Amino acid sequence: MALLKLKNITKSYGKEERRTLVLDRLSMAIEEGEMLAVMGKSGSGKTTLLNIIAGIDYLDDGDYEFLDEPVNLRKTSDGVRFRRNRIGIIVQHFALINDFTVYENVEMGLWETKMSQKERRTRTMQILDQLDIQALADRYPPELSGGEKQRTAIGRAIVGKPRLVLADEPTGALDNQTEHNIMDILTKLNQDGTTMMIITHDEDIAKRCTRIVELKK
Ligand SMILES: Nc1ncnc2c1ncn2[C@@H]1O[C@H](COP(=O)(O)OP(=O)(O)OP(=O)(O)O)[C@@H](O)[C@H]1O
Ligand SMILES: [Mg+2]
Repeated sequence: MALLKLKNITKSYGKEERRTLVLDRLSMAIEEGEMLAVMGKSGSGKTTLLNIIAGIDYLDDGDYEFLDEPVNLRKTSDGVRFRRNRIGIIVQHFALINDFTVYENVEMGLWETKMSQKERRTRTMQILDQLDIQALADRYPPELSGGEKQRTAIGRAIVGKPRLVLADEPTGALDNQTEHNIMDILTKLNQDGTTMMIITHDEDIAKRCTRIVELKK
């Protein structure tokens, strides 16, 4: 079953002669349970696609359905509501809050849920445990290695148990070994039932996914 479907979606930026058409009548689906790799040259629209799926940006034309329901988002608060319990995002370059500890950065992923403080604590500790960063709970991001930062960012994306995790080059800034450890974590998550879309420039990472889609300019 398709978790989401995009039909003939179009997205451009800028006005008139400065207008760039980024996505031109793109159609694709993400099946429930798959681990999809999205590849394509720099500027081919991978991040744009992720932002549209996540409700961070909006399509100009075409149809977007999530679990057979049409998605029509117009503003930031619509996107926040849409993502809740549905989508977790791991962005390029981590985007951790430096004034927050590892624990607080992960717990942030539950701000939009209706959990009690106690439930949030239990769930956050469970995730820190799962990602093997419990010993780092009180540290701040500048005190972490790249791999530890990335695990914290993954924690924030999955703590709310989303159906779909979107990752934008989650291993881009990491060495080979750490990259494979991160992929092991994402593969395990996928095997436990989370659908995943991973943007990558790396063939080895793409090969570890269940399907590859290439965006052409
Ligand atoms: N907010 C914006 N305003 C204007 N142009 C934009 C905006 N966001 C993206 N673009 C343009 O849209 C095109 C696609 O950008 P996008 O970030 O989706 O590419 P990408 O495939 O993720 O590239 P990379 O691999 O370098 O991350 C680029 O030409 C970019 O300059
Ligand atoms: Mg990008």
